[in-house]
Order: sequence, then structure tokens, then C-alpha cells
Amino acid sequence: MSDRWTPSAWRGKPARHVPTDYPDAEALAQAERTLRTLPPLVFAGEARRLKSLLGDVAEGRAFLLQGGDCAESFKEFQADNIRDTFRLILQMAVVLTFAGGKPVVKVGRIAGQFAKPRSEATETQGGVTLPSYRGDIINGQGFTPAERAPDPQRLVQAYGQSAATLNLLRAFAGGGYADLHNIHRWTLGFVADSPQGARYRELADQIGRTLDFMEAIGVTPDSQPALRQVEFFTSHEALLLGFEEAMTRVDSTSGDWYDTSAHMLWIGERTRQLDGAHVEFARGVKNPLGLKCGPTLEPDDLLRLTDVLNPKNEPGRLTLIGRFGADKAPELLPRLMAATRREGRAVVWSTDPMHGNTLKAANGYKTRPFDRILNEVRTFFEVARAEGVHPGGVHLEMTGQNVTECLGGARALSEDELSHRYHTHCDPRLNADQALELAFLLAEKLREARTAMRQPLSAAG
Ligand code: PEP
Ligand code: CO
Repeated sequence: MSDRWTPSAWRGKPARHVPTDYPDAEALAQAERTLRTLPPLVFAGEARRLKSLLGDVAEGRAFLLQGGDCAESFKEFQADNIRDTFRLILQMAVVLTFAGGKPVVKVGRIAGQFAKPRSEATETQGGVTLPSYRGDIINGQGFTPAERAPDPQRLVQAYGQSAATLNLLRAFAGGGYADLHNIHRWTLGFVADSPQGARYRELADQIGRTLDFMEAIGVTPDSQPALRQVEFFTSHEALLLGFEEAMTRVDSTSGDWYDTSAHMLWIGERTRQLDGAHVEFARGVKNPLGLKCGPTLEPDDLLRLTDVLNPKNEPGRLTLIGRFGADKAPELLPRLMAATRREGRAVVWSTDPMHGNTLKAANGYKTRPFDRILNEVRTFFEVARAEGVHPGGVHLEMTGQNVTECLGGARALSEDELSHRYHTHCDPRLNADQALELAFLLAEKLREARTAMRQPLSAAG
């Protein structure tokens, strides 16, 4: 792998899951030229700020909460959806901060999460075979040849939607909505009367009393702007490399390359080949990176990937996101964690308890049992403790909408109910109730980890 890097160097490498069947190659090139002329979505300084916060996570001083849609879509693009995902993340962050006593770094899978790798290149319905749906930035979900043909105009539309989404997120984060005094107002209507809603209210009351106390001694949003705003970052899978390349610019301050399509980018489980295009692209941009680590990843390969993606071993540059499935995690996660710890790799370890726990219900719906999701999270914390690694974060597919896509949870969502509000454009997401329930479990684990840190390992068993 040569050290000379350019944003287009990936074009010389095998690129899995990047479509090559655009009917009009010139139209694609034209769309990419258009993107090159458009303003950056994020700034290099913001990506550096996130990297520094993730550095704190790598060193055990903070926790990463990353979540949002599996796939954003053009059809579901509405201010209410964005607000609901945002406030769910705020609620979860409050629960985690309170329990862990550490800052929570908030990163959305949002404002650019459009391209999907698919296990099958084609889909057959009633004897007709068409290309699979690959996310709204590539083709359409409708089962017609026209919809399924990759359309370059979609790149420009995805850029526009990302810009508008980010604009709203910036307003929510800085414009008063995220003021901690609004803590009660973040509760989504349908969560209010659930057990999670009640637990959250109790916590919010406690925080409200603390804020009153602080105000009485002179700590107010005017003296402490941190009470009024939050730092919120965006991320997506860097899959459609033509789009990412077009958004990659030299930062005038540092002279370094940044992919300005999001603060953080990750490499998916299906595209993490050491000699592949996605690793080649990602290694050259200075954004913080994620790397999905699934069942087929061997410790030696992981170490080689960390060498390439984080050659200077900078804390905050690389987040490893384990996604094994509840059954495989106990066997497969320890050796990877042991390898990075033994070799002194300054990485964040996070867990994605979604992608290894997908199954097909008897009625044909793709779903995820909440129990398995919780089990993989528990395993993550146990293994981290046993290996002496900081359990740094969680990566979730979730929505503020009241969907019925994952089974179980406190309301015991059943297979028969999946059809009620199954709206996802790709994988099944936690609804707000389930996500909040998971946050409370995470809170418990963080509290245990905090207590355990104060005790010698042998004493805790
Ligand atoms: C995803 O995060 O949506 C995804 C496809 O995950 P993975 O690459 O881990 O399968
Ligand atoms: Co997914």
C-alpha cells in the first residue's frame, strides 16, 4: 500500500458494494462534478473536535452513543422524524451520563446514512428478478426496473437532504431545544405512559432539582452555556465512494484531507478488506473512523487494519464496533479485545448489538429479538471487564417513531404485531421505548463498571 494518497486512489482497488451498473456513466460523472462544487456539510475543525472527544472515550473518560436509522430515505424526510431521533438520543444520553458519571459523546447515524450494502445483489418476486434496493442514494425501493436502476441524480438529492437535516440538527443542538431545563419535554408522546417513561420522569425530576439547586448558587445557562446546548455529530457508512470522494476537500488550516460529508465515517463489515477500495479511501481522510468487526475477523487482520487506518496510534481516530450476534460474541469478542490490548492499540471499543441478531420471523418479517440485543450488550461489558478494556460505546439502529420492527421489550412486541408499523427501509430498528429501555440497561452496566474500577480486579472476581 503506497503512502501517496489521493481521494480517487480507491478507484484502482476492488470496490465491493459500489454499483457499476449506472446506465449512463457520463451522467454519474456529471453528478459527482456537481457535488465537488457544493459546500462542505461539516468542517474539519468539527471532525477534529469529535476525534478529541473520542480520544477521551479511548482513554476511558467518556462513553460513545451512536445511533439512528439503518437507512435514511427520501420518503420519510420530515422535520418531525429528525427531531424525534434527536430527542431520543438526548434522553438516552441523559440516562447514561447520570449513571456513568462521564460525558456521553453523541453521534447520529443521520444526515447522510443512505447507502446500503446488500447480501444479495438481486431480488426475485413472482418469477421476476431485479437488482436489489441499495439505499435511496443509489436506487429506489419500488420493485420495477426503472426504480431499481441506479440514478446519479440521487447523489445530489441525498446531499440536499443531508444539508437540510444537518441544518435542523444544528438548530436543535444550539438553539435552545437541547437546554437541560427542557429535560421533561424530550419525552415522546407514546413513551410517556410506558414503564420506561416513568423511570425517565423520575430521573428527570432528580436532575430538575439539581438544576434548581445549581441556579440558586448562581450556575445558570447564562454562566454555563453547556446547560443550554449540546455537541452533536453526524456519521454514516462510507460505502458509496464516488460520493465520498466528491465531498473530500483539503482543510485550509491543517492542509489535511477531510471527508466533509460527515464528522465520522465507518467501514462496514462487508467492505473491510485490507486491500480493498473502502480501506484505501478511509485511510487517507483525517475524520474519526469506525470499523465494523464481525465474526469472520481474525485478530491478526484486525491488527493489520488498525495499522493501516491508525498508523500513528492516535486515540480517537479509530472506533472498533463489534457486531457478532449474542450467540457468537462470548467466543469471538475476547480474542479481538485481547489482541488490541496486548498490542497497545489506542482504540475505542464499541458494540453494535443489532447486525448480528437479525432473523426472519415466521411471517416473513426481518426482525431482531430485543433479548438477544440486550444479551450482546451484556456480553460486551463482561468481556471488556475480563480483558481490561474500557467498554467505550454502543452503536444502535433506532428511531424516535413508534415502530414495530424489533420483537420484545417491556411491551413484549409479538411477531403478529410486526406488521402494524413496520416502516424501515432496510433493517429493523428499536423504537423509542425499546431504545430507552436499552439505555437503562446500559446505565446499570456503566454504574457497575464505575464501581468495579474502584476495586481491584481480583476482589471483584
Ligand atoms: C449497518 O450498520 O447498517 C450495516 C450494514 O452494518 P454491518 O456493516 O455491520 O453489517
Ligand atoms: Co443496518
